[in-house]
Amino acid sequence: MTALWSGRFDGAPDAAAFSFGASFRFDRRLFEDDVTGSLAWARALAKAGVLADDDARRIEDALKTILEQGRSDPSFVNGPDEDVHSFIERLLVERLGDAGRRLHTGRSRNEQVSLDLRLYLRRRIPELQRAVAAVVGALVRQAEAAGDGLMPSFTHFRPAQPVLVSHFLLSHAAPLQRDYARFDQARQESDALPLGSGAVAGTAYEIDVEFLARELGFSRVVANSIDASSDRDFAATFLYACAMTMVHLSRIAEDLIILCGDEYRFFEMSDALSTGSSMMPQKKNPDPLELVRGKAGRTFGHLIALMTTMKGLPTGYNKDLQEDKEGVFDAEDTLTGCLAMAQSVIDGLALNRDRAASAASGLLLATDVADYLVGRGVPFRRAHEIVGALVRQLAAEKRDFASLSLDDWRAASDWFEADIVARMTPRVSVAAKRTPQSTAPAAVDGRLREIRVWLTAVLR
Ligand code: ARG
Repeated sequence: MTALWSGRFDGAPDAAAFSFGASFRFDRRLFEDDVTGSLAWARALAKAGVLADDDARRIEDALKTILEQGRSDPSFVNGPDEDVHSFIERLLVERLGDAGRRLHTGRSRNEQVSLDLRLYLRRRIPELQRAVAAVVGALVRQAEAAGDGLMPSFTHFRPAQPVLVSHFLLSHAAPLQRDYARFDQARQESDALPLGSGAVAGTAYEIDVEFLARELGFSRVVANSIDASSDRDFAATFLYACAMTMVHLSRIAEDLIILCGDEYRFFEMSDALSTGSSMMPQKKNPDPLELVRGKAGRTFGHLIALMTTMKGLPTGYNKDLQEDKEGVFDAEDTLTGCLAMAQSVIDGLALNRDRAASAASGLLLATDVADYLVGRGVPFRRAHEIVGALVRQLAAEKRDFASLSLDDWRAASDWFEADIVARMTPRVSVAAKRTPQSTAPAAVDGRLREIRVWLTAVLR
């Protein structure tokens, strides 16, 4: 195989070193973007008077044919070439001779690979965002189906206060909406044209970079050619957005693994998505959720790997940067798979209303009892002490507030009046919340409405 740089050397490259350095195996995924970039580059060269109009047209036609061939048959994008850029150039030269040899004028693979990855992320990020929104959609559907269902919330993984099941479900929608916005930022960061940077110092031809930016749909041109040759911040930002989304999917997975488990059983996981045990006949395992949780780590790894690759580089392009792509692609694939699985699992959940609601009562109302006393004028610290003593006594007797008669209440404090018995229910506790981010039914309804509007906007 002759490489694009073979002219510099006497003999053929060492086969092992060549294959060690080759990236075609994975950068073939940039095929479309490389062709897109070259189409625009041919036009820019013609505009600069470097390429005869006739040559430019022939190059464009050949590139379009190559694109069609690659699109209709992915196995077409294959060969002994060093990378996707060399592959496309080889085909061009095979088909056009010297006209094909003129396309790389004033251009370096250093800027080409940066361009390709930017174009790739720009078209792939919206796909991931749609998948993120689809998980939010599944949470919204479950929140609607849960209606006024109750469950405990947790802090320190100990039952804390009653909440609406819908409030719990939407607590997982909020981080995903932030992830969506984070991907917007990643997309904006990719949105700068690196062409015109040359290998590192810029290009000596009259390339109209503003024209190129418009042609390729970029809103701006990079600021500095040296920086551009080794800037992969946009890829790191993308990996960070992937990693944060995986943090959130992993937490959904962890919650559902626990809450679908035998101890809680607030939700039932769909049989079709569960797995059995080869030995223990009773088992219904949440493997898809465990895999979502388990795969989070590898996406964090890709982010750390890229930052580590970047941090010690001398200024300007270094081949280390070739390591950016596999992590980016794997993070994308991993996240795509996990988002689809999370959506399926959430869509398949069945709420076990009675079990969830009955776990939301009992001593979880302690804060509400204290709030009751505050309403009567007792300072909160004093109220906390009174209720704390009562909880200690009830816990020792394995009872809870529901077992207290009015006399029992008044024995604990004569601030308690007859209304206390009716007021200490999870339903009243939830309804008593006053802030827009709380579990109060009207507040949760408001949030649901907002998220539905958001979904319509982002999925249009
Ligand atoms: N395969 C290379 C990469 O991924 C393309 C750029 C090659 N540039 C070079 N000077 N060898 O970074």
